[in-house]
Amino acid sequence: MHVLSIFGTRPEAIKMAPLVAALRAEPQVRSTVCITGQHREMLAQVMALFDLKADHDLDVMRPDQTLNGLHARVVAGVDGLLQTARPDCVLVHGDTTTAAACALAAFHRQIPVGHVEAGLRSGDIRSPFPEEMNRRFVDSVSTWLFAPTPSSRDALLRENLPGRIWVTGNTVIDALAATVARLQADAALARTLAERYDWVDAGRRLVLVTGHRRENFGEGFRNICTALHTLAQRSDVQIVYPVHLNPQVRDVVTAELSGLSNVHLVAPLEYLDFVWFMQRAHLILTDSGGVQEEAPYLGKPVLVMRDVTERPEAVTAGTVRLVGTSRERIVGETNRLLDDPATYADFCRRSNPYGDGHASRRIVDALCTRPFTEFAG
Ligand code: UD1
Ligand code: UDP
Repeated sequence: MHVLSIFGTRPEAIKMAPLVAALRAEPQVRSTVCITGQHREMLAQVMALFDLKADHDLDVMRPDQTLNGLHARVVAGVDGLLQTARPDCVLVHGDTTTAAACALAAFHRQIPVGHVEAGLRSGDIRSPFPEEMNRRFVDSVSTWLFAPTPSSRDALLRENLPGRIWVTGNTVIDALAATVARLQADAALARTLAERYDWVDAGRRLVLVTGHRRENFGEGFRNICTALHTLAQRSDVQIVYPVHLNPQVRDVVTAELSGLSNVHLVAPLEYLDFVWFMQRAHLILTDSGGVQEEAPYLGKPVLVMRDVTERPEAVTAGTVRLVGTSRERIVGETNRLLDDPATYADFCRRSNPYGDGHASRRIVDALCTRPFTEFAG
């Protein structure tokens, strides 16, 4: 069976890396990888870390690209490859333009699609934008629906989709568990990271921030920056913010937050380094999808700067709270976590609703029509 995995952004690469490794190790599968190049720089770091090699590179990235321009380049680029390679299955991940465009191209070529991370739903087609539409579309054309959790399976069942569903756990936990194990096992590596970030002040609580969602562009991002500005007045915290390369994010964040002594704006971190920072964080402020899944595994409280989430499991478990993008709410909830030990302890109850580290194995078993025990949540 020829399985062609296609991805283009940083989170897709992190989440597809353990699956590609499992496919490579499977005798029944011939595994090939195509990258679209949507995130040229950020992808290269992940490819190197997980020893991933691309067989094909569509090189679609343009500065300040529009969604339609990107979508068109991905469809056109991948079509020739599908025509010549004729894989038995195309695997795409999640909710990006790369995933939606590749699923559409495979559908047009009548090549079966497998959707990794199927069934996530915020319930609001405009948020996250355009990801909610992308994932609904990919689910509707997929033959194999790999739902990470029982609740994502239930969302798919409610939609009566034609694809077959398996609950596998999220492959991000496979990637994270492997990375944590690597940091634990390699003392020299841990020392190198500590030296690289010798400005991290153990005497102050580390607040780790990420943010890049399109629906927060403009006023949302200005509010987030004003909130961080206010929080930076506290002398007992150190704020670390790896800033996404999207100019709509980078320009605002740099203009609003550079020059504050306890705010460290840094370039996007390599995954290993970012995991090291998550382990050291007292709390995390984010609008990212993947970070909402990883932080609970590490027992770290997360405030999500969005109004809705497609990942309700950790909200229900109490380790993640939605705080939107109002300045008052972000500042208020962060201060509460910093100042009220009981609230903080409540958030930290380690819970792990997203996976057990075996999602990739289950997906390979499903593709090879072998029986396996689904992830129970
Ligand atoms: C994309 C995904 C989003 C995912 C995010 C992860 C879509 C519609 N959105 O959003 O679902 O959560 O990636 O990070 O697919 N840029 C670079 N180099 C990079 C990455 C981005 O220069 O490595 C700049 C470019 O100017 C580019 C812009 O950022 O035009 C936007 O990038 P794009 O891939 O269109 O969207 P993201 O906001 O990164
Ligand atoms: N991440 C990273 N370096 C960073 C910030 C995030 O490696 O500087 C990782 C993070 O651990 C998670 C993934 O990137 O696995 C999330 O990516 P992103 O926030 O870009 O996208 P989303 O998950 O929202 O689609």
